[in-house]
Amino acid sequence: MNTPIYNMLLKYSGQRPLPFHMPGHVMGRGLAALLKSAGSLDITEVPGSDSLHDPIGVIKEAQALAARAFGARDTYFSVNGSTVGIHAMVHAAVKPGGKILINRDAHTSVINAISLLKAEPVCIIPRYDEDIHLTLGCEKSDLESALLLHRDVQAVLLTRPNYYGVARDIKGMAKAARARGIPFLVDEAHGAHFAFSGLFPPPALRLGADACVQSMHKTLPALTQTALIHEGASSLLDHGSLSRYLSMFQTTSPSYVLMASMDIAREIMEKREAELYDALYDRVRAFDKELSGIGGVRRIKPGVPGIDTDFSRIVLSFEECGLSGFEAERILRESFGIVAEMAGHYHVVLIATPFHTDEDFITLVRAIRETARYGDGPVEDRLSFVRAPDTLPEKAMNPGDAVLKASERIPLEKAGGRISAAPITPYPPGIPLVYPGEVISGELTRYLAEIQGSGGRVHGIMDGRVQVIR
Ligand SMILES: Cc1ncc(COP(=O)(O)O)c(C=O)c1O
Repeated sequence: MNTPIYNMLLKYSGQRPLPFHMPGHVMGRGLAALLKSAGSLDITEVPGSDSLHDPIGVIKEAQALAARAFGARDTYFSVNGSTVGIHAMVHAAVKPGGKILINRDAHTSVINAISLLKAEPVCIIPRYDEDIHLTLGCEKSDLESALLLHRDVQAVLLTRPNYYGVARDIKGMAKAARARGIPFLVDEAHGAHFAFSGLFPPPALRLGADACVQSMHKTLPALTQTALIHEGASSLLDHGSLSRYLSMFQTTSPSYVLMASMDIAREIMEKREAELYDALYDRVRAFDKELSGIGGVRRIKPGVPGIDTDFSRIVLSFEECGLSGFEAERILRESFGIVAEMAGHYHVVLIATPFHTDEDFITLVRAIRETARYGDGPVEDRLSFVRAPDTLPEKAMNPGDAVLKASERIPLEKAGGRISAAPITPYPPGIPLVYPGEVISGELTRYLAEIQGSGGRVHGIMDGRVQVIR
């Protein structure tokens, strides 16, 4: 296999060295049985294993192979997910206190990076389809208007695809940013697989992104925490700035098991991309056909020109048969052992991969059919009171200022009218409903309580309390 890191690890462990080096489990000896084989490859920087922070050997080689496979000029490994890549991209593109244009439904890591930089987010509101309750990404004209209004914006960072697999055409948006001479960055955490089949929307780098991040662990056969940060051929970021910030934010003890996993996932995809994704496409099509015969359950997709979707992201609505997404998710899990990626009031989101078999899809269809029987008629009326507030929270100050203010924890139901000191984020999908520095409305406290009451988790609410500025 053309996997330099993995090959090095196999060679090293095959030599049966007597390690008097980190980590403390001594190449698996001290680990629980199921972790032993991974532990045998879990080494540290020793002669020949290279260094993520100054790669000159196998890591450099593996990153170069990844760059080639994903169509990047340079690719860097992250052992801390896309999160660290987003921090690095924002820091590389925006000066402290500067402005950055983002989609309002950006991941919480974007807001955290902006907070740390004491930067100012300028938000574009993504379009929303009321009929299917789906956010559709940002419209090019909205981005252009925002660029006109804010001449001092230093970078654009958009999420594409979103959690629901919705992928706008961003080519024109990248062009608009370039015309202004500012970097166009993409949070492509959910799209690491796009490079490997023409059946997916084109990847961000091909559409003109200066840089992007991709969580390998979300959709590719790679261990949790693995992610890639890519820079395009004509990136406007200062040369070397991305790797410099990554080096500042990442652990100095990166896991070789994680790095080998990235190396191997890239190799699997390069070797088998067409075979794997063609087969998955056929399975998903067959699934769609079966699903169309089940009353009350629909697969949700935006039918709007210019908006592509990831066929492997299955968004289901049980609305017509009388189940909220939370309810359907619970039935699928508790009664049929099927665990979805995410649920919301209106949807259940499933991630299909080439590593799901025909049997898996048969089991899934059977479970969905049975789940639909639990419903008792249209759910719309029942859900109308839990709609997210129509207006955005009022901004009192920038997130970076808010996180530095003295704060206190108060019960959520008493937080109406107070300024949040932290992001408040239903997770998944990890999109803050309130940024630090924004006013929590009474309507929002009720909506958040409803999400929690329905079984959703919300980061930023602990023991029923939220952090607000004193
Ligand atoms: C849109 C988006 N961006 C970034 C991230 C962060 O990715 P990671 O968990 O790999 O750090 C997530 C995680 O859910 C996400 O949904």
